[in-house]
Amino acid sequence: MENEKQPFFYDITLRDGNQALTKPWNTQEKAVIFKYLLKLGVQAIEIGFPGSSEMDFEACQYLASITPENVVAAGLARTVQKDIDKAAEAIKTAAKPRIHTFLALSDFHMKYVLQKDPQDLRKMAIDAVKHAKSLMNDKGDVQFSVEHFGDCKDNIGFVIDTLQEIVEAGATTINLPNTVERTRPFEFTSLVRQVYEALPKHVTIAVHCHDDLGMATATTVESYFAGARQLECSLNGLGERAGNTNLYEAAVALYNNGVNVPLNLHKIYETAMIVSEMSHIPIPIQAPLIGPDALAHRSGIHQDGAAKTKGMKKGAYRPIQPSLIGRDDDEKLAFTSQSGKTAVYEIISKAGYPISMQEAIRITPKIKEIAEQVGELPTRNIIDIYFKEIFKVKGAFNLIEFVKVRDSRYRLKFSYHSKEYNIEVAADGPLEACLSALKKAGFEQKLLHYEQKAIDEQIKGVSADAMTVIHLMAPNGENIICRGIDQSTAKANVKAIFNGLNLIEELKNKGK
Ligand code: KIV
Ligand code: ZN
Repeated sequence: MENEKQPFFYDITLRDGNQALTKPWNTQEKAVIFKYLLKLGVQAIEIGFPGSSEMDFEACQYLASITPENVVAAGLARTVQKDIDKAAEAIKTAAKPRIHTFLALSDFHMKYVLQKDPQDLRKMAIDAVKHAKSLMNDKGDVQFSVEHFGDCKDNIGFVIDTLQEIVEAGATTINLPNTVERTRPFEFTSLVRQVYEALPKHVTIAVHCHDDLGMATATTVESYFAGARQLECSLNGLGERAGNTNLYEAAVALYNNGVNVPLNLHKIYETAMIVSEMSHIPIPIQAPLIGPDALAHRSGIHQDGAAKTKGMKKGAYRPIQPSLIGRDDDEKLAFTSQSGKTAVYEIISKAGYPISMQEAIRITPKIKEIAEQVGELPTRNIIDIYFKEIFKVKGAFNLIEFVKVRDSRYRLKFSYHSKEYNIEVAADGPLEACLSALKKAGFEQKLLHYEQKAIDEQIKGVSADAMTVIHLMAPNGENIICRGIDQSTAKANVKAIFNGLNLIEELKNKGK
């Protein structure tokens, strides 16, 4: 193995994954997945089980012929001569062919399934490895798997003795499958360590875990630290029953723990999408790393932490930067009744609409109220509420008309509760006119800040040319941010002031 310390990724999608599909892939389909495996940079690919069908034999022949020189092309074979011959024939054009032969050595399987004497089975395995080795010559190599290794706790002595002979017979990789996941990761890795310590150091120890109890990634990752260098994994975790160790999870878990992972991790996401499409197996919404919700935050606390650590290498509530695996979607903030102001602020800003945190805080209860009834709110619903609550603040003040009567003279018509006011003033501009008319009517306002914004880039999909942002001082000293939009700047100013008046009134009503 080139680098003793680096994990060696041996992909089993095209064999264990393929055999679990309702319609196994043909040569062309396997070739598509194969190319993605090369882009990811796996070091070895189990291209199939040539003895299982003519179709798979042909697929293996083709894939072996296009396997690059630095990648191992392995064919699976039972410990029977005709299978081994078939595998050798199928992979012979690869630069690095490997025959992978296997036999169960657990007491249970030998007694009830194989129904043979352990010593006879030991001989069968040794003979098979010798035969495979003779066919590989110096060009290729031989891998032997102890099927059901996870069940071998009670006869581990017998297994280790057998493996020592198997190594002498020519196997250079010994694979220890957790064929059915029953054991705790700790117990399994203790067995891996025993084998690792008992065999010569030139032998590569591999693990191949199934995910029956959902612990395959954990077992694989811990096995690496117990001496297993070759990690057998599959794309999207495809494999028999509940699948095999998911390659993305194992690779990223090792990466996150400081291991030098020799894969192009940024190819993970696009690979996952293709594999899902080609296998017709959808990616669960919450699948680690690749699921649509794997980087989504719905609770207010999580959203706050996510926003504060956005763009940082370590995120408060995420295992990776999305770009590490080639995801171009940001950490998603989704709004439910459990969400808060940060989500409102982020969702609206991300959608391209201007909002301040003060405004986000103000409109959050209204959005929450609706989310309580309907569940997660799509962005467009949040934007609708934003428009209503920011630009059309309802309340006691109601703007009826604002017009320029003649040079420097303006008329403001409005109602406060049911009382109507019709006031004419002289002023240098519309903003001053509106404020002085309000003062005349007994509603003096203190203007703290005034800003005009170019609207076309600021507000998407709104037919308005001007947006005014005004800060008014509420009687309690609070700085109230209010906005107005309209075709005319003058009207945008006045609308902003009336939105502000209603906001201040709301504060007063709440006793603030
Ligand atoms: O799960 C298993 O034991 C296997 C072997 C053939 C390696 O897939
Ligand atoms: Zn398997």
